Amino acid sequence: LRRQIVDVGRRMWLKGMVAANDGNVSARLPDGNVLCTPTGTSKGALTEDSLAVVALDGTVLDRGTGRGPSSEVRMHLRVYQVDPGAMAVVHAHPLHATAFAIRGEALTLQMMPETVVALPEVPLARYATPSTDEVPDSIEPFVLSHRACLLEHHGALSWGSGLEDAFMTMERLEYQAQITLLVRLMGGARELSPEQVLAVRRQFGLA
Ligand code: 13P
Repeated sequence: LRRQIVDVGRRMWLKGMVAANDGNVSARLPDGNVLCTPTGTSKGALTEDSLAVVALDGTVLDRGTGRGPSSEVRMHLRVYQVDPGAMAVVHAHPLHATAFAIRGEALTLQMMPETVVALPEVPLARYATPSTDEVPDSIEPFVLSHRACLLEHHGALSWGSGLEDAFMTMERLEYQAQITLLVRLMGGARELSPEQVLAVRRQFGLA
């Protein structure tokens, strides 16, 4: 899990999903505690021993060799507390998704079959002051019903059955933000028809 967190951090950084120390990554350990990235650190330069271990109630069990747990670890812990199936959480500031978050716009257009199946909606969690309990409170309503959300004036959050799953959702939502912006610039989005959406959902066992 330590190696995977370092790897996801590097991929986020290489893909330009984080600037400076933006973003944080965590995973649920087999003993129920949570492994998370250190605060104030580039996600492109993480080391396995710099990761911190935090109990579900927020108690710091091991600061690691880094700067101690991410300032946003309570947002991650809320996901694990609410959804027993969540095994990893990824927070990033991908450029286009963050632009939609600043605009205060959820990603809801059904333009491609992939999105209909894997990520039909990325809702918007209302603005919350960083590092306060307002942040976990703002994302909680979406944890069981969605796989990701935008954080107003902030960035994006995704979660899933493992680190790869949560990271792929982050990639997918940023792609959705990019394609939404692009088709708007080209003259306007064209959504799939309700019949096409239903056919895709049926084909993949979702309806
Ligand atoms: P940390 O460096 O504390 O993880 O915070 C980064 C960030 O993205 C805050 O939103």
